Parts: sequence; C-alpha cells; structure tokens
Amino acid sequence: MDSIHALESLAPDLEKGLSQASSLQELEELRVAFLGRKGKLAQIMASLPQIEPDKRPLVGKKANEIKEKLGALFDARKAFLDKAAEEAALSRFDPTVPGRAPWRGTLHPITLVMSEVVSILENLGYDVATGPEVETDYHNSEALNMPKDHPARDMQDTLYISPSVLLRTHTSPMQVRSMLARKPPLAVIAPGKVYRRDSDLTHTPMFHQIEGLLVDRGVSFADLRGTLTALVRQIFGADTRVRFRPSFFPFTEPSAEVDISCVLCKGAGHVNGEPCRVCKQTGWVEILGCGAVDPNVFKAVNIDSEEWTGFAFGMGVERIAMLKYGASDLRMFFENDIRFLHQFR
Ligand code: PHE
Repeated sequence: MDSIHALESLAPDLEKGLSQASSLQELEELRVAFLGRKGKLAQIMASLPQIEPDKRPLVGKKANEIKEKLGALFDARKAFLDKAAEEAALSRFDPTVPGRAPWRGTLHPITLVMSEVVSILENLGYDVATGPEVETDYHNSEALNMPKDHPARDMQDTLYISPSVLLRTHTSPMQVRSMLARKPPLAVIAPGKVYRRDSDLTHTPMFHQIEGLLVDRGVSFADLRGTLTALVRQIFGADTRVRFRPSFFPFTEPSAEVDISCVLCKGAGHVNGEPCRVCKQTGWVEILGCGAVDPNVFKAVNIDSEEWTGFAFGMGVERIAMLKYGASDLRMFFENDIRFLHQFR
C-alpha cells in the first residue's frame, strides 16, 4: 500500500514543482526527476519485486495511470509556458504601426518638364523627332544660314570632334533634318541634349532644348505668337503674361525672344519689399528664342519660300525647370542627390 501512496503523491508533488518552473530548462529538470530512468517513478517501480505478488498488478496499473497523468501535467505546463512566451513576444510587436512604404523612384525633374512640354505640343498637332547629338557642321550651322566665318558662329562655344563634326550646340539642326526628310506642311518638335563649352552657376556643358518647327502656307508671326502664348500659359499658368522682344538669330527673320511675367514676383519686381532674385527686379524672365524661318534656310533644304512660310522656336528645358520649381542652382539638376530629386513627382 506504501507504493500506491507514494505513486499517488507524485502528481501533487509534480504540480507544485511545475507551477514554479518558468523555463523549458526547469521543465526538463523536473521531467528527469520524475520520469527519468532514475527518477521518482522509476524508483518506485524498482521496488515492485518486493511487493506481494497478488498486489503487483494493482500497483502496476496505478503506476501506468500516474505516468500518464504526469505526462499530461508536463504537456499542459509546456503549452502554458509556450503561450506566455508568444504573448510576451507579441507585446513587443505592435501590429497597428503602419508599415514602411517601399522606396519608389521618381522621374528626373528635367524628364518631367520635357515630357510635359512635349505632350502640350503633341496636343497642338506636332510630331516628335529625334536626331544625332554628334552632328555635322552643315546641319548645325551652315544650313542654318551660318556660313563658315559667319560672325554668328562665335555666339556658340562649340565642342568639335573634327573640323566638320561636332556636338550639336542647339536642337535647331533638327529643323534642317526634318525639312530634308519630309515635305511641307509639317509640324515637328525635337527634344534632346545639346552641348556647349560653358560651365558656371547657370550653364552646364550639356543641357536640354526643345525645338519647334512649323511649315505651311500662309504662316504668320501671329500664329507663332498664339502658339507660344498657349504653350507658355499651359506650362506656367493661365495668368502668365507674355512679351515678344525683337532679337536676332541667323536662321529666323524676324526673330524674337520671349519673356514671361516673373514666376516668383508675378511681374512686380519685388517680393515682400525685397528685390526679386529671379527676375532681378525687371518683372520679366526670358524663356525662349523664336522667329519666322529665314528664306535662306528654306533655300538650303530646297523648299520654295515663295510658296511656304514657317516659324521655329527653341527653349532651354533646365531654364523652364528652374523657373517652374523655383530652383536657384542649375547644378542641382545634375548632382543627382536623391533628396533633391525625390521632391518632384
Ligand atoms: N537655337 C536657338 C538657341 O539655341 C534658339 C532658337 C530656335 C531660336 C529656333 C530661334 C528659332 O539659342
């Protein structure tokens, strides 16, 4: 009967031990102490041969019961400890905290402005054309009414590859290429990179231009004015004022430069009593060059200037981007600092 007693007290003993066990290691120590090969249960079973034979089955049956019970107690405590550990881990994790948004790239501000201007002009009916940045002197200058020794060639600091091959200094050679490739009437724009030997606060050796060319019958300067006014107001806003100032380009006659009312001071010349830094107090900023196609250019591409007339314009994309985004240093567009670029969407 002693063994039955001893067996029966195992469960409450174990329960007590388990209630104090708070780690898997303590749990394992208890398992060895109770159910191990030299544990309490095994010790009791070792005394079985000393028990009267007719009582052995009873003790054996009891031993099995207790063994099962102890196993169940271990399992329950282990499940409890596992759950507690999981809850502790969860309490350190707040599932309501918003996730970290994945990093998304953005288009470069120059690309953004370029595609905006291109799409406005496409809506006006212009086709996009692209051409080589390594250009011949003929397309870049000669066919544009700048024969060799023409003083206008000094206006541009050309990067030469050979005496007759160069990096195009403007997108205007695309006027020549378009008129050689297509018969009028035609309406073409040519966005792209251009190169000049020039580098300071407001000039970089490479920058972007968008060229426009329209050739048709009876095209007048009024058409040019209307087109550019519509374009500029779509870029800078409907209340933008536009001014055409007489100018000179060898490939257009007459020629003009277009100013818009200053984007910062809106033409006032000052902001909060301070002189406007964008327009230097004039109230106007220059944004493009334009004019009626010079008959000499038509002649170079075999278009009859008695039958056809046209206009052309060219604008600097970086300049428009600086005005549009209020950037004060052109070089920021080329340094590619992610913190700067990421602001444009
Ligand atoms: N090509 C000129 C420049 O780079 C701009 C221009 C284009 C002017 C077309 C008139 C007509 O300054």
